[in-house]
Amino acid sequence: MKVLILGASGLVGGNCLRYFSIKEDITPIGTYFSYQAKDTIKFNTLDLTDPTNFDINAFDPDIILHCGALTWVDYCEENPEESYTKTVQSTLNAIHLAKKFSAKLVYISTDYIFDGETGPYTEEHPHNPKSVYGQHKWEAEEAVRKALPDNHLILRITNVYGDEERNKNFIARMLDNVAKNEPIAFSLPADQYATPVNAADIARALYLLLRDKKVGVYNIASTDWVNRMQLANMVLKRFPNHQINITPITTAELNQAASRPLLGGLITKKFMDEYPNFHFTNVDDYLRKKIEEITLPN
Ligand SMILES: NC(=O)c1ccc[n+]([C@@H]2O[C@H](COP(=O)([O-])OP(=O)(O)OC[C@H]3O[C@@H](n4cnc5c(N)ncnc54)[C@H](OP(=O)(O)O)[C@@H]3O)[C@@H](O)[C@H]2O)c1
Repeated sequence: MKVLILGASGLVGGNCLRYFSIKEDITPIGTYFSYQAKDTIKFNTLDLTDPTNFDINAFDPDIILHCGALTWVDYCEENPEESYTKTVQSTLNAIHLAKKFSAKLVYISTDYIFDGETGPYTEEHPHNPKSVYGQHKWEAEEAVRKALPDNHLILRITNVYGDEERNKNFIARMLDNVAKNEPIAFSLPADQYATPVNAADIARALYLLLRDKKVGVYNIASTDWVNRMQLANMVLKRFPNHQINITPITTAELNQAASRPLLGGLITKKFMDEYPNFHFTNVDDYLRKKIEEITLPN
């Protein structure tokens, strides 16, 4: 399988690129949009005629995995046109490419397509996004389903953590603070629940779904259903000597531009019924591995 990964400079795409690179039956190519991460090449999804784009014709992908989006939720709320372009228009362009190469399109979506009143959610729950980001992710999903009814996969994920070059995700940032012996001070919402998932698990799950030629929507989530405060404590309890100041706060007090699903998260029963032997790692598994890598300062 030749897999073109759009947005491989990010957390999810980067993990897929790394994992697919060690699979004998996959030849992956990962592209970046504005930040050239290791082993990625340029492809501007917003201008398919850009002469500096990587030559997809020569690669002729069987699968296009679109991990690109504007993922900064509050910025999307204040810049809806840019959000539309980077999330919806980029997906319409990915659909165009998938049709051109008769490739399957894999789209990465989110629990922000739900309102967060009754999560965690199954795949069938009615959508009701409360933010520009969530609305645009839903519109992109719908476009994929409509354009490629028999040749798409949509993975819904949330609260992703894991190894990434820029260490942007919440857990990576905390581990960075600890490794650099910098104090940690956070105000964290104790009323925002989700199902954190390791990006490496997303890559492993996606590999199975591609191998088995699955079609449709799959939730990919671990079994942890925790709020932000609990998630931070899972990390911090492992570093009892580190200088830490975490203040619990409500989401309303944070006064963010975009509304957040409070009871969010995803139920992964559909995937687990089809792959009962799949083991989702949890935050503790990941931390055990990372602690071995971190040289703790005295
Ligand atoms: N992280 C989460 O918790 C989470 C939760 C739910 C859903 N998701 C979804 O998962 C996907 C991957 O997110 P992530 O966490 O890996 O985010 P990320 O680390 O912020 O990466 C986003 C990626 O999108 C690329 N990108 C931005 N605009 C693009 C465009 N118009 N065309 C192509 N690529 C573009 C970025 O490229 P450059 O950096 O090179 O500009 C980057 O590689 C996104 O669709 C996101 O909505 C993420």
